[in-house]
Amino acid sequence: MKFFVDTADTAAIRELHALGVVDGVTTNPSLIAKAGRDFKEVVAEICAMVDGPVSAETVAADSEGMLAEGRELAKIADNVAVKVPLTWDGLKACKALTDEGRMVNVTLCFSANQALLAAKAGATFVSPFIGRLDDINLDGMQLIQDIRAIYDNYGFETEILAASIRTVNHMREAALAGADAATAPPEVIRKMADHPLTEKGVEAFLKDWAKTGQKIV
Ligand code: E4P
Repeated sequence: MKFFVDTADTAAIRELHALGVVDGVTTNPSLIAKAGRDFKEVVAEICAMVDGPVSAETVAADSEGMLAEGRELAKIADNVAVKVPLTWDGLKACKALTDEGRMVNVTLCFSANQALLAAKAGATFVSPFIGRLDDINLDGMQLIQDIRAIYDNYGFETEILAASIRTVNHMREAALAGADAATAPPEVIRKMADHPLTEKGVEAFLKDWAKTGQKIV
């Protein structure tokens, strides 16, 4: 499973990128507002740092507006994936942009039928939002499983990008469900390394090592 980082915080992306765990980045208008920086400038900085797809979201409500914004965003770098919402207008914009050879991430997907339409419209990625479904007592992970089964039934090439990831369990379950990629906040990716038995083991080994009085370097 590919790891995308869901943030516009360039320092956090840099740290994870140095570790080799970043296959792509996703941003959205809320994350750009949180970063408090110029949208195109941040996207350009991220695209220069990361080789993989960097999602930049349109904000127009109609397909013509999304198309114009998408073309503008795609000028920033070759690895920009234009993000459009899973609305009827978003699907129209997706089809037009992918026909022009651009990568498109169709976002805010909450049902298998929506994902089916995104694939038919030629989306490069579809982003089912796990956490937001869980928030309203629906099963976000079941949606990933359903989309995986449907895409595999018909050989759709659209990649399932599990989004709205809130916990390390979401990452494990998305991988088990066969998501092609998952986008998670930097803190969730960092927490994936944690285990109390690892910490306990390190502590015990260091205690015993101290008894030897030796040094490695
Ligand atoms: C994905 O592309 C979105 O930016 C993101 O995953 C949304 O997550 P949230 O529901 O935690 O805001």
